[in-house]
Amino acid sequence: MSKKIEIFDTTLRDGEQVPGCKLNHKEKLKVALGLQSLGVDVIEAGFPISSPGDFKAIEMICKELREPVICALSRSVEKDIKVAAESLTYAKRPRIHTGIGTSEQHIKYKFQSTPEKIIERAIAATSCAKRFVEDVEFYAEDAGRTDNAYLARVIEAVVAAGATVVNIPDTTGYCLPDEYGQKIAYLKENVKGIHKVTISAHCHNDLGLATANSIAGVMHGVTQIECTLNGIGERAGNTSLEEVVMILKQKYRDHFYTDINTKLLNPLSRLVSESMSMPVQANKAIVGVNAFAHSSGIHQDGVIKSRENYEIIDPLEVGVDKSYIVLTARSGRAALAFRSKEIGYDLAKDELDIAYEHFISLADTKKEVDEHDLQKMLDAIFVSNIC
Ligand code: KIV
Ligand code: ZN
Repeated sequence: MSKKIEIFDTTLRDGEQVPGCKLNHKEKLKVALGLQSLGVDVIEAGFPISSPGDFKAIEMICKELREPVICALSRSVEKDIKVAAESLTYAKRPRIHTGIGTSEQHIKYKFQSTPEKIIERAIAATSCAKRFVEDVEFYAEDAGRTDNAYLARVIEAVVAAGATVVNIPDTTGYCLPDEYGQKIAYLKENVKGIHKVTISAHCHNDLGLATANSIAGVMHGVTQIECTLNGIGERAGNTSLEEVVMILKQKYRDHFYTDINTKLLNPLSRLVSESMSMPVQANKAIVGVNAFAHSSGIHQDGVIKSRENYEIIDPLEVGVDKSYIVLTARSGRAALAFRSKEIGYDLAKDELDIAYEHFISLADTKKEVDEHDLQKMLDAIFVSNIC
């Protein structure tokens, strides 16, 4: 039977932390409504202790949204947890996300503490959050660089203290997929009570492995993925929502599913990019402008014959109207004929030969021959009869 993988979206928290991406409360609400339509299971709406503006945004999101769980972040600090609980007052399904660093690096150099004291703080934070809400997620920050035996002790302690979800972040994007998968497998085997809770993957992209690590986590027992649209987030970003969703759909459909309406992936990606003034790189998987664009003659000929020759995803499935045949100096006759037909010129073979000669001279002077250029060129040849 196919198993549901919950999508925990942190675009409005980890994503919004990125310099220049800050949103006001109205903009946050607009993105949150979009995420609700997309079908995410959990929205991490912000870090309410960080500013009154973020507190207000979370409160508004809680009032307006009724479907997803709304989550607020806190450190393992009583005041943070109380403010997080307060910001969630109006939530139909509130969750507090609390935690602390567990790697040797964080214990020694961030907290100047000891492993035993960190476990005490983890338990205290979980118990404190439990006084306000039933649904408490605990994050073991820098779990990617945490010794597995110690991590298992921390996780066992917070599960016993009532955590409902345990988040195993690869905060610094340090793990390889096999290491991350083995970490999850180790916890599954060595933590008492782990079967009662949800295991969550929260992977950063410092080595470009966030998506691969999250999927490796799923292969070993993760049932919630924390991710952002367009993969935005601290430094090199977080796991990209659109990538994990489409990997599960394309490659593992018999084993896993999500509730994401994939047709909204591209519209939502644009909404996030525009509201955060954060352009999406052109070659970004699923949502980049070139994700369904074909520019070399060989590929264009192949796609025109059968889209599946060079596309593994139907663009309609992710909210893109159609594949795009780009006209450049690397394009061939098939592409020119195809694009000409789209604007009303169904060229016979000899006409195409003539048009192609004009086209190549023009294309060598430009990065791309757009529709306007093409129309002008064809009109000049065939209406004004310049040949
Ligand atoms: O990357 C991380 O460890 C985080 C936690 C706060 C969950 O963002
Ligand atoms: Zn993070």
